[in-house]
Amino acid sequence: KHILLLGAPGAGKGTQSKRLASEFDLEHVTTGDALRANKDMDISDMDFEYDTPREYMESGDLVPDDVVNEIVKTALQEADGYVLDGYPRNIEQAEYLTEITDLDAVLYLDVSEEELVERLTGRRVCDDCGANYHVEFAPPEEDGVCDDCGGELIQREDDTEETVRERLTVYHKNTEPVVNHYRDEGVLVEIDGEQTPDGVFDDVAEVVEDA
Ligand code: AP5
Ligand code: ZN
Repeated sequence: KHILLLGAPGAGKGTQSKRLASEFDLEHVTTGDALRANKDMDISDMDFEYDTPREYMESGDLVPDDVVNEIVKTALQEADGYVLDGYPRNIEQAEYLTEITDLDAVLYLDVSEEELVERLTGRRVCDDCGANYHVEFAPPEEDGVCDDCGGELIQREDDTEETVRERLTVYHKNTEPVVNHYRDEGVLVEIDGEQTPDGVFDDVAEVVEDA
């Protein structure tokens, strides 16, 4: 199955896609994680504003399409079934995606702006295994320590209030048109993203089962 999960920063794409991938035996393809793993990659020869993905990410801006498209193309080619998260983030990426693959389901996690800010500024991630926590909504058993592996929990560099605001601005400008594009095509399934993680997963899984 080819599943696309859309939503604003903090809507719960990562939380839901990880679980979907494991329960439906799909590859989790996420441009955010891929870019974080390669944030110091030298892209200076490509003549962009910045020389590394890191600088774009820390400012809340999108990394250039040429870099991201290449990552996605390679990852999708290697995957049998997949759940794609964090891409496409603008109309150009959406057009590119149409060229390289077909989709069985497009889901959109709907969450209010106020809730998004609260989720992102309270998020903590494990520095070792990448597991996701929230200081209030999903706290670890022991403060600052990962339940799964004992690693240290840190705040992502782009989860500061200032960068979160910028990411949301970029989302409204660039990514909302992508959501509207799939809605206009009549393929968008809208999910109430403000339920508990389990509640959201039930709705998401129902769609994926039938896809
Ligand atoms: P990326 O990593 O994709 O970040 P994002 O889209 O901003 O999404 P997040 O990972 O912040 O949120 P999420 O929706 O996955 O939510 P999560 O499940 O973690 O991108 C980062 C940067 O990389 C971009 O700014 C850009 O620079 C670059 N980039 C990435 N893709 C790109 C592309 N295609 N083109 C160009 N540049 C690109 O949940 C958030 C928090 O809420 C967690 O703490 C979680 O515990 C909590 N939570 C989750 N679900 C619930 C719930 N139901 N109830 C209560 N709390 C919940
Ligand atoms: Zn861990």
